[in-house]
Amino acid sequence: MSHGPSASGGALIAAAPHSRHDDAAYVPVFTGARRVELDAILTRYPSKQAALLPALWMVQDMYGWVSEAAMEEVAQVLSITAAYVKGVVSFYTMYHLHPVGRHFIQVCTTTPCNVCGAEDVVRALLEHTGCGELGLTSADGKFTVIEVECLGACGFATPIMINNAFVESVTPESVSRILLELV
Ligand code: FES
Repeated sequence: MSHGPSASGGALIAAAPHSRHDDAAYVPVFTGARRVELDAILTRYPSKQAALLPALWMVQDMYGWVSEAAMEEVAQVLSITAAYVKGVVSFYTMYHLHPVGRHFIQVCTTTPCNVCGAEDVVRALLEHTGCGELGLTSADGKFTVIEVECLGACGFATPIMINNAFVESVTPESVSRILLELV
């Protein structure tokens, strides 16, 4: 079974233009209502550091990925080092170290799904999205497709996740219909 680059590690041929920024243009996440939201989150944890994962989710929710500048901001608001933040961001594949498509598609290709045709689903997704290769983003910035390990739905091969939505029993034939339903 081959695995392409993860969302955290793959190179991109095109990135989602809406979510790209350089450090100079970085707009802080934790101001106004989002700062209030973070403060509410902090009350649920024994230390600021313990709120790192939800803080990173807030960043990714705003930008679609977690940049170096965002890591610096998170480190500052949580009174931890940027190196520690980067270690966490790079450990979890659910956080993106670069922009990804608006529809981030994860396909289970672990053995039980693989023997049921997951590789054919991957091929259909890469073709119909225009991504071409795993980990790359389509030229229109809409899609990124990656392979992942077991999604916990082994009886419903092939399962995929599109952002936070779960889709079961995907076949090569159903891929185009599923993609058409995405805005
Ligand atoms: S092996 Fe594919 S969901 Fe478990």
